[in-house]
Amino acid sequence: MNIVEIIEKKRDKRELTKEEIEYFVRSVTEGSIPDYQISAFLMAIYLNDMTDPEISYLTEAMANSGDRVDLSYIEGIKVDKHSSGGVGDKATLAVAPMAAACGLPVAKMSGRGLGFSGGTIDKLESIPGFRTALTEDEFVTFIKRDGIALMGQTKNVAPADKKLYALRDVTGTVESIPLIAASIMSKKLACGSDSIILDVKCGSGAFMKSFERASLLAEKMVRIGQSNGRKVYALITDMDQPLGNAVGNALEVMEALDTLKGKGPEDFTELCYVIGSFMLVAGNKAENLPQARKLLENSVSNGTALEKFRKFIENQGGDPNIIENYSLLPQAHTVIKVKSPESGAVTAINGEKIGTASLTVKAGRLTKEDKIDHGTGIVLMAKIGDKVTKGQPIAKIYAPDEQSAAEAEKQVLSSYSFGERAEKKKILIGYIDEEGSHIDQDNH
Ligand code: URA
Repeated sequence: MNIVEIIEKKRDKRELTKEEIEYFVRSVTEGSIPDYQISAFLMAIYLNDMTDPEISYLTEAMANSGDRVDLSYIEGIKVDKHSSGGVGDKATLAVAPMAAACGLPVAKMSGRGLGFSGGTIDKLESIPGFRTALTEDEFVTFIKRDGIALMGQTKNVAPADKKLYALRDVTGTVESIPLIAASIMSKKLACGSDSIILDVKCGSGAFMKSFERASLLAEKMVRIGQSNGRKVYALITDMDQPLGNAVGNALEVMEALDTLKGKGPEDFTELCYVIGSFMLVAGNKAENLPQARKLLENSVSNGTALEKFRKFIENQGGDPNIIENYSLLPQAHTVIKVKSPESGAVTAINGEKIGTASLTVKAGRLTKEDKIDHGTGIVLMAKIGDKVTKGQPIAKIYAPDEQSAAEAEKQVLSSYSFGERAEKKKILIGYIDEEGSHIDQDNH
């Protein structure tokens, strides 16, 4: 067996065997094949797709490429959440402390930015001192004592995904159903939770642009989870514009904090309550979704969710003073306002273009070696359905310099569309679980 033959087989649309896929994943993990051959294989998968058996072999081989995390020392049902990725998706930052404040232990492993979408680890690293590289002992201690800990993907957990993720990020191979399904599910299987809530984003700010592709990805991930003995809910949620208002690392931390203080944007707050409700029901902390939602709302109104966030930051070496004083977070050098070119209602905001504008101002990476500027990004001041007048500010750009701010301004302007009127969209389109699909697309 050799890697060139495997690449050629996928290039020629022939189905790969379990042994060939295992050989590829083993070679990636051992570092015995160069990045250009891995990238060529990823592109062949991107272009020619994979069959269901191929996706299962890839997921299992990636999950087995490192250690399995043992969470049995934590009492009760362990629930994990994971997003398929989208622009402005900072849900983990707010949902994790809310759920932990409601008594659900949250042991979360998160990733970095991918393509035009940000990553939880990069966002948290904007907090001065915050450590995402925890030892297993620290991880266990924090969860047992305070019910919450979050770490980056270690060298030992699904290392094949770590390598593939970084290469997909910079080779135009992110938006692939088999690659996303295997990436997410290999980590979830390696991490040992009993139940998994997947947030599959759908629309212009997501990797799955259409409802059909989002539901296909959701179904495949639910099936992989089930065949590995996990209870999986895959929510399909709207992302036809960036989530909330802020896009960019420190800016998103501030928005998550606002949300924990009960002052977050409506769509983002709603998404947090939806995801959190599924987590609490799956973890037996509430009998049904309405009861779970009440518990989450209370955790925000009585301040326990914010206190959980404070404890979480303190445990992991971050400066908790950022909670009251946002100026302690990294700040951008240049801030400009983008003005509306016309009067009317905002009918669309292309999320991917906003994500690309955030890369222009260095809030994400264009090459593996790029360093992120944690203070930069975009804040939207008008969302779909809002009425604006010509000249009114519709967004703010936080940039490292005037030149990138001007470039990002053009990208932000080209992402907005205007018309006479537009309806606001519902955030939850539906969900898929082991009983099947609960989706009323007409209602969306
Ligand atoms: N999140 C992941 O972990 N992997 C993907 O491919 C997309 C989102």
